[in-house]
Amino acid sequence: MNIIFLGPPGAGKGTQSQRLAKKYGIAPISTGDMLRAEVKANSEIGKQAQEIMNAGQLVPDSLMVSMIQKRVKADDCKNGFILDGFPRNLEQAKALDKMFSEQNLTLNVVLSLKVDESALADRIAGRFSCAQCGASYNKYFNKPKHEGECDSCGSHEFIHRKDDNRETVLARLETYRNQTAPLLPYYEKKNCLFIIDGTKDINEVGQEIDEVLKKIRIQQG
Ligand code: AP5
Ligand code: MG
Ligand code: ZN
Repeated sequence: MNIIFLGPPGAGKGTQSQRLAKKYGIAPISTGDMLRAEVKANSEIGKQAQEIMNAGQLVPDSLMVSMIQKRVKADDCKNGFILDGFPRNLEQAKALDKMFSEQNLTLNVVLSLKVDESALADRIAGRFSCAQCGASYNKYFNKPKHEGECDSCGSHEFIHRKDDNRETVLARLETYRNQTAPLLPYYEKKNCLFIIDGTKDINEVGQEIDEVLKKIRIQQG
C-alpha cells in the first residue's frame, strides 16, 4: 500500500504516518525528517537546505525528487510506503507520477488532513521530540506517559525544531497555501483524494484513517 499525506504544518502528518507505519508494516518517509538529518550531519544537502527551511520555503524540487527516488528503492519500502511532506507542489507531484509509472508502483490513496489554521499554532508551539529516537510529543495534547521520559526509548533528552517559531510558522503556512494546497484539486481529479477531519483527537483521526484504508482495500482488492 502506497499512501500520500497532505496537510498544513502541524496537521498531524508525522503523527499519523508513524502510527500507520507500525500498524501496517510500511515505511514512513518524512522528507522534513530526512532534511533535518542532513542538516544535523552538516552534509552538502544539509548546508543547502538549512536556510531555506528556517525561512519556511521549499528546498529545490530536483534535490527532493532525487532524494525520494533513492529512498523508495530501499528494502523497507517493499510492502509500501507513506509519503509525509512530499509532494509539496505541482512539479513534485508530476515527478512522482512519472516515478510511479516508471517503477510500476501504484498510488493507492492521498489522505488530506484538514485542520483550521487557528488550531495549528498550539500544536506547533507545544511540539517537542525525543533527541534519541525522534518520537514526537506535545505538551498540550500528547505528553509522554511518564513526564520527562520518552515512551519509546526511555531517553530524557528532548528537542524543539528550529523552524517552530512564530515567524517561520507563518511563512510555512503561506508556502502551504500557495504551493501545496493546489495539490488537492490535482489528486481529486485523479479520484484518489480523501479528506480527513484532522481537528479531532489523535486516536479519532487514526480511526477515521483506518476506515478509509479499509474501504480502499476492499475497492482495490
Ligand atoms: P516538514 O517537516 O514536513 O514540516 P511541515 O509540513 O511544516 O509539517 P510538520 O512536521 O510541522 O507537521 P505535521 O503535519 O507532521 O504534524 P505533527 O504530526 O508533527 O517540513 C519542514 C521543512 O522542510 C519545510 O518547511 C521545507 O522547508 C522542507 N521540506 C520538507 N519536504 C519538502 C519537499 N517535499 N520539498 C521542499 N521542501 C521540503 O503534529 C504536530 C504537533 O501536534 C505534534 O506535537 C503532535 O503531537 C500534535 N498533534 C498531532 N495530531 C494531533 C491532534 N489530532 N490533536 C492534537 N494534537 C495533535
Ligand atoms: Mg512532520
Ligand atoms: Zn525516544
